[in-house]
Amino acid sequence: MAFYIPEEKISEIQNVADITDIVSESVLLKKAGKNHIGLCPFHSEKTPSFTVNPEKQIFHCFGCGAGGNVISFVMKHDGVSFPEAVQSLAKRFNIELPTRDMSLAEQKAMGEREQILEVNQHAMKFYQNMLFQEFSGKPGLQYLTERGITKNTLEKFYIGYVPDGWNNLVQHLARKRISRNVMIKSGLVIENNQKTGYYDRFRNRIIFPIFSTGNQVIGFGGRVLDDSLPKYLNSPETLVYSKSSSLYGLHIAKPECRKTGTAFIVEGYMDLLALWQYGIHNAVATLGTSLTSEHVRILRGHCGHSGKVILVYDSDEAGLKAAARSIEIFDKEHLDAAIMVLPNGHDPDSYLFEYGEAEFRGMVKHALSAMDFLMESAVLKHGMSVEGKVRTVAIMKDYLANASDHVLRSLYIKKLAEKLNIDDSAIMEKVREAIQKKRTGNDRAGIIYGKNQQSTSRNEAGILFEYDRMEKKIIAMMVQYPEILPEICKQNILSCFENKVLAKIGVLILEQHEKGNRSVSSLIVRVNNPEQEKFIASLAIENSKWNHAGCLKLIKQFVLSKNKRNHDLLMRIKTAEAQNDDKLLIALMEQLRDQKKIQKKRESAGGKTL
Ligand code: GTP
Ligand code: MN
Repeated sequence: MAFYIPEEKISEIQNVADITDIVSESVLLKKAGKNHIGLCPFHSEKTPSFTVNPEKQIFHCFGCGAGGNVISFVMKHDGVSFPEAVQSLAKRFNIELPTRDMSLAEQKAMGEREQILEVNQHAMKFYQNMLFQEFSGKPGLQYLTERGITKNTLEKFYIGYVPDGWNNLVQHLARKRISRNVMIKSGLVIENNQKTGYYDRFRNRIIFPIFSTGNQVIGFGGRVLDDSLPKYLNSPETLVYSKSSSLYGLHIAKPECRKTGTAFIVEGYMDLLALWQYGIHNAVATLGTSLTSEHVRILRGHCGHSGKVILVYDSDEAGLKAAARSIEIFDKEHLDAAIMVLPNGHDPDSYLFEYGEAEFRGMVKHALSAMDFLMESAVLKHGMSVEGKVRTVAIMKDYLANASDHVLRSLYIKKLAEKLNIDDSAIMEKVREAIQKKRTGNDRAGIIYGKNQQSTSRNEAGILFEYDRMEKKIIAMMVQYPEILPEICKQNILSCFENKVLAKIGVLILEQHEKGNRSVSSLIVRVNNPEQEKFIASLAIENSKWNHAGCLKLIKQFVLSKNKRNHDLLMRIKTAEAQNDDKLLIALMEQLRDQKKIQKKRESAGGKTL
């Protein structure tokens, strides 16, 4: 059931939901001629190849090939289905959608997300109210006050508390008529092993609601008030919460990240609250999970590609390890990162409470670049014995080999040589080896990738066959120069397409054009196939210079090539006959039959004889 949402509603959404606005919410865009460009949110890249064309209301990435209209963007970016993307856009622009025609399965999938969000909203309010209850909230409020959190901060982050007890929330949700099933799906309520009862996940804990960038409550974290374990508990993964792509505090930090082009990354809830309370408003927390590529891409969307992140991790062993791991991810995602190492025993929260904002900001100036940090930690760890130095070089050679800036690389090699008091040519040699090794590895990967790419394209869309080149060019012309469509129609060009997918796209273009629906964006809605959407967007985004004479020439060439193909076929049949190759002969005859069929169809539709 592809279009249970009336088409006029989809058009309405496309008219009001400007693609540049929607994309801008998560990707920093810069104007470049008719287009806006930025770093692609769907793959790692260093120079922007993600392009949005406001006039045509489409996007296309020249790097990874992603592309489509505003609805496809929301689908891909938020990882939702077509109806969900339409629904969420409609909601934002106050467009009412009839839902009575939805299939049960669709209603269910969409409903479940909504239901979980609703439960989370109820739970957040419940926990927040609890914190301020005169009697039952007291331990929570006392704990937070002792840790120096102000009322203002508590309110800004909707911090809550849940007293001890197995069913505080269960009962509250039951009063709100939430079904047990939905309670469990939200992860806030757990069914016991015998499946005879239910109980609250969070008991006697401070509650930190986790928000999406769209300000919806997607999950929770909870901290104990004493030394019991586990210290923190988080919501499990649900339909609306994925820890690898959520950053605590981002919903609040967004504007400041944009303004300053920088973001601080801390590890914990309390660290984040401390930073905010001390006036550092461009900070996010990773919440116990290690930093992922997705996190970095999201941040890059808000800080821009020339942006910078500053990791403020604990100075303990685990914190330093986490920092070293994160650096590799920043490197891979091409985002500039610096590491702020706090004095022994401090985490951002304890540091700020002890020294205050000015000292903290002063430390930022001394944040180490990623490479300096790695060097310092390696030297610190392995020491200055001969074996220690060998180990340090062995570790650093790979990092240095990865550095994309050559000047910077040689500077660091010099620096390391000085630090270790050895000759820099020795290090240079090791780095060169590492680069060589990396290169051969990459080449191999490149060949495999090439193969895969071809096979998937053939399977999914059939667009990249060798003999499709010309057909592809004709479709491009139809998208880029609609004035030629009457001619395509008149000569019935599409009927001699061999690539069925391209032919189908061509027919759709003609149909849409006839209906007076001339925008590329609405064409994209009609194909309803991600591979083909990408293909059309990639054609439409090109700045082409067609003129009528050029188009007619291409059509003529195409017709001629078809004739030649027929002629070649006849020649091959003759040869096969002469050589008594029956198997080949039968295959060729079949091809000829197909060709004739196509030809007949075309002639009966009034096209010129091929
Ligand atoms: P405070 O002790 O309250 O200041 O917390 P902290 O942030 O200093 O704690 P820590 O450095 O130990 O942990 C950093 C982050 O890791 C926390 O904010 C949690 O998100 C996560 N974390 C810590 N302990 C646990 C745990 O026991 N379980 C889980 N799931 N996460 C934890
Ligand atoms: Mn702490």
